[in-house]
Amino acid sequence: MDLFEYQARDMFEKHGVPVLAGATADTPEEALAAAQEIGQRSGGVTVVKAQVKTGGRGKAGGVKVARSAEEARAAAEQILGMDIKGHTVHRVMIAQGAQIAEEYYFSVLLDRTNRSLLAMCSVEGGMDIEQLAVERPEALARVEVDANTGIDEAKAREIVEQAGFDAETGAKIVPVLQQLWAVYRDEDATLVEVNPLVKTEAGDIVALDGKVTLDANADYRQAHHAELEDKASTDPLEAQAKELGLNYVKLDGNVGIIGNGAGLVMSTLDVVAYAGEDHTGGAAKPANFLDIGGGASAEVMANGLHVILGDDQVRSVFVNVFGGITSCDAVANGIVKALEILGDEENKPLVVRLDGNNVEEGRRILAEANHPLVFIEETMDGAARRAAELAAAN
Ligand SMILES: Nc1ncnc2c1ncn2[C@@H]1O[C@H](COP(=O)(O)OP(=O)(O)O)[C@@H](O)[C@H]1O
Ligand SMILES: [Mg+2]
Repeated sequence: MDLFEYQARDMFEKHGVPVLAGATADTPEEALAAAQEIGQRSGGVTVVKAQVKTGGRGKAGGVKVARSAEEARAAAEQILGMDIKGHTVHRVMIAQGAQIAEEYYFSVLLDRTNRSLLAMCSVEGGMDIEQLAVERPEALARVEVDANTGIDEAKAREIVEQAGFDAETGAKIVPVLQQLWAVYRDEDATLVEVNPLVKTEAGDIVALDGKVTLDANADYRQAHHAELEDKASTDPLEAQAKELGLNYVKLDGNVGIIGNGAGLVMSTLDVVAYAGEDHTGGAAKPANFLDIGGGASAEVMANGLHVILGDDQVRSVFVNVFGGITSCDAVANGIVKALEILGDEENKPLVVRLDGNNVEEGRRILAEANHPLVFIEETMDGAARRAAELAAAN
């Protein structure tokens, strides 16, 4: 999960990283009040910043300096509702204005290719770092970080030295990198990026912009991260699926899809998309991704169908299960019981394709149950075509 800048700011503050005062506002009036308060620390000057989960807000006009609280109100009025790279601005942060002397860059991230952690640092921050990495790679220090020792004082020194800081500035940055490492480690992040990390006219080091990505695999031991979720922009069906522990992604079609195993579900999306093109002239398209994993118990199957049937766009459902360790007869029993659990809620045609371990028995169980809305198909292509045609006809 990516955090908004204001959430990253708060997290930095919690771990001792130097940040400036900041408060969020959802209306121009709230922005005015926040600027009256925060501006007192910086001669009335504040910066109004769009809170969207994308970079380059400055260039897009989403970061504006305000010399008075009234100017902050007007800036908020302009920025709220703005579209930045497809993200609508619903909230701004009113930040204390900094007197910037220099802008630097720092990040620490999970480097999957090298199976390690990587710190990157540059005396040239503020600008587009991807551009810097391409045009002048020598200006971007890249230092491998051992996950066990992290960024201790020695590692922080190595990073600032490679980045080419002068001794005085480097000495001030070393403790800040250690604090940023504390954020990365203690919050189970996969990315902590500060662009720009600035030196103020007064000579203080401050993190002026923050980007943090948290590792969802660590949610079980980071209970407080749940509060950081952006519920307003999460799809309600996806939220419901998440609560049920299902791996579900909503798409914009009408053929609901359930399968076991991410690879099988991905290929099911493909065959349904092709069948929709070939046999319905594009009228049928996959409505979702849903991987129910290995078990395929009645409860999981019922939960999965419940989420899919909650999607008003869905006209037919394609259940594509390959029996492995969980054999097809167990899966078929799961489907039959799931239909009992759902009762009248199951009101759309359900095309089932089973294959693999003990498939004959699985098909026999489904045929014997003789549910009026269940259609059994033997091949994946045949089932995709049937599901697409049923969706287009309904
Ligand atoms: N609190 C602040 N005080 C003064 N200038 C700021 C402040 N916050 C941002 N800026 C300036 O605006 C630029 C862009 O802001 P930033 O937060 O990095 O947004 P983005 O990276 O999305 O463009 C920064 O490089 C900095 O020069
Ligand atoms: Mg930035």
